[in-house]
Amino acid sequence: MTLIKNCIILLFCYYTVAESTDALPVVLWHGMGDTCCFPFSLGSIKKLIETETNGTYVLSLKIGGNMVMDYESGFFIHPDYQVRYVCDQLAKDERLINGYNAIGFSQGGQFLRAVAQRCSTPPMKTLISIGGQHQGVFGLPSCPSLSNSACEHLRKLLHREAYKEWVQRNLVQATYWHDPLNEEEYRQKSSFLSNINNEVFINQTYIDNLNKLEKFVMVLFLNDTIVQPKESQWFGFYTPGQDEEIRPLNQSPVYEDLGLNQLDSDGRLVYLSVEGDHLQMTSKWFIENIIPLLTEN
Ligand SMILES: *[C@@H]1O[C@H](CO)[C@@H](O)[C@H](O)[C@H]1NC(C)=O
Ligand SMILES: *[C@@H]1O[C@H](CO)[C@@H](O)[C@H](O)[C@H]1NC(C)=O
Ligand SMILES: *[C@@H]1O[C@H](CO)[C@@H](O)[C@H](O)[C@H]1NC(C)=O
Repeated sequence: MTLIKNCIILLFCYYTVAESTDALPVVLWHGMGDTCCFPFSLGSIKKLIETETNGTYVLSLKIGGNMVMDYESGFFIHPDYQVRYVCDQLAKDERLINGYNAIGFSQGGQFLRAVAQRCSTPPMKTLISIGGQHQGVFGLPSCPSLSNSACEHLRKLLHREAYKEWVQRNLVQATYWHDPLNEEEYRQKSSFLSNINNEVFINQTYIDNLNKLEKFVMVLFLNDTIVQPKESQWFGFYTPGQDEEIRPLNQSPVYEDLGLNQLDSDGRLVYLSVEGDHLQMTSKWFIENIIPLLTEN
């Protein structure tokens, strides 16, 4: 509800109460190499959502106290810590009390899913994962916003040392590194992904909380050169023991172990795809495909 000022003649104004928007507040979580507020990325998406929903409240998460911390968090702050931080921020925000919709970009997609699974208040209604890596990655062909040499360094580190304890503690991308040739090692040593995917043990709270979502929408970029395999964006992954053939979600253990089968059979699990490289979508596509999901409840 907002006050709309109506002016009939210059000095005669009165106020009416009008429904500005029915859309729930929206929470955004940026990807690696990005921040809450860069004008060329999440800053402009925030504006777009505000405009298209007639001014709903949009919170673009900033992890830590400032933009530098926020940028670095995408590489160096353990997702468990980030998720806890976000849960606190959301719980403190009175505007979210009646629920919110959430959009995660790239790794922000799996992090927001962890928020849904671990923190049920305030209630998340629709979770939209745009290019998220729900079964992790095995490869990092290129890195947004990093120089070639930094990217090369990161890639080598992940291939060689991803499951070393200090790497798991200090490098975000290692926490969702998923080596299909060493599934057992992944399950035991991944310090984040195998936990939120109920692969170490089944946490019933995760299943219950995930099933409180009205919808879980996954967007896959058909020509993605950053996420390997790109099917991870739809919760698919390599069939264990090799790295070519893909096993889709509905044939993976996580489908039942996380209660995604229930969401799916209720029609609440939505698979969307869009042509383009990682996170390359037009505002026209966003307005036609994402905005309606935010305004329908
Ligand atoms: C926003 O306002 C316009 C003009 O009043 C209206 O046509 C449109 O349906 C509104 N959109 C939403 C999401 O409320
Ligand atoms: C299951 O997840 C909930 C929510 O994050 C957590 O409070 C609980 O400790 C977890 N259970 C176990 C056994 O780790
Ligand atoms: C993107 O991928 C799709 C599906 O594989 C393919 O049909 C399309 O031609 C590709 N587009 C570009 C621009 O490469």
